[in-house]
Amino acid sequence: MTNSTTGAHLDKQNRAAALIAECQLLAQMTEEPGLTTRRYLTPPVADVHAHLRRRMEALGMTVTVDAAGNLRGLWQPAGAPSRRLVIGSHIDTVPDAGAYDGVLGVVLALQLVEEAAAISLPLAIEVIAFSEEEGVRFSVPFLGSRAVAGRFDPALLALHDSEGITLDLAIRNFGLDPAHIEQAQVSEDAFAFLEIHIEQGPVLEAENLSLGVVTAIVGQTRCELQFSGQSNHAGTTPMSLRQDALAAAAEWITAVETAARQSLTRAESEDDGRSALVATVGKLAVHPNASNVIPGAVQVSLDVRAARDSIRETAVTELLHQAQAIATRRGLKLESKRLMDHPAVPMDEQLTALLALAVEAAGHPARRMPSGAGHDAMVLGTRLPSAMLFLRSPGGISHHPDESVLEPDVEAALQASLLFLRQLTRM
Ligand code: GLV
Ligand code: MN
Ligand code: MN
Repeated sequence: MTNSTTGAHLDKQNRAAALIAECQLLAQMTEEPGLTTRRYLTPPVADVHAHLRRRMEALGMTVTVDAAGNLRGLWQPAGAPSRRLVIGSHIDTVPDAGAYDGVLGVVLALQLVEEAAAISLPLAIEVIAFSEEEGVRFSVPFLGSRAVAGRFDPALLALHDSEGITLDLAIRNFGLDPAHIEQAQVSEDAFAFLEIHIEQGPVLEAENLSLGVVTAIVGQTRCELQFSGQSNHAGTTPMSLRQDALAAAAEWITAVETAARQSLTRAESEDDGRSALVATVGKLAVHPNASNVIPGAVQVSLDVRAARDSIRETAVTELLHQAQAIATRRGLKLESKRLMDHPAVPMDEQLTALLALAVEAAGHPARRMPSGAGHDAMVLGTRLPSAMLFLRSPGGISHHPDESVLEPDVEAALQASLLFLRQLTRM
């Protein structure tokens, strides 16, 4: 592997281009050839770990993998105080993902260590490549950051993936011991957390800005519902005598969209959209999934997000109520479970102000904005003062292979974060 792909020892002018190339290289470490799909603790995760471990060791960092599968590198410069800044993001992806969601924040963190070392910045830095943020494999997100924040509930180990493998076994199969997850908790020496991430939305691009400073991360609820009816012959069963679980789910999915659209219209007229909510059904499993069989059972996901927790909570209650009403009217059974309820998390005011100053000192307007996407900072923010820097997402595209970043924005993020790190050494 050449230096330009490892990202090490970069020519300063090309450092942004090299970091982008490194993300593209990591995107080739995938479960599905030709696409980027890298779920929690699947084999390509070991390849990403091997790559990042080499990078960390070349920088003189001490590298470990904790029991939740987070790869962690500690940079402790001689003579610097032991209190450490934690910088990180995640290395798992959604199916058929882009190359930058999460991974860019990890390679930028390593570049920051390199830059900090080059100027002998007296600051210890722990870089964490979080193992799981997306919630794809086990339907529950933030498994990596929960462990680091000391918020990993051992009951999660009983979750199972689509192949029936439990979380407990997935961790063991990766050569780790779930009994040690408690020890993944961040050190008492950690004093702050920084995450650098693409915006994944259109706001910065619309305003022609490179960087954004995150003020808060919206709350989210994820549920799984099952409509159960009766599978039967598609040719012989009269329409009036069917208990079609997919038709019921479809009716409810439309109701979900309508409810979220109506809430947006209300919010726009009432408070500039701050009380808006978004709701998505993104995953469907149809049984038996054959064209000549009436679907007997359908599992449906629900993802609801809002900046205001009360609005999200009310919406989830109403949507589950509607699902029950639809199921009852059609003679079906409904089961639902909540997989996650996470309140909105404000970023730390003092750190965020410092980050905004650093963005301005780097020559960019400090656009403050909430994040509609979930991030590891949402979980770390409950344990450590946290701040988050956004880079523009061209086309507002993310969770898609067309996701991209611009070299000047990567360079701007590096400059602003390095100024932020300098400020932290004075705190
Ligand atoms: C993570 O990407 C999320 O917001 O779902
Ligand atoms: Mn994502
Ligand atoms: Mn992400």
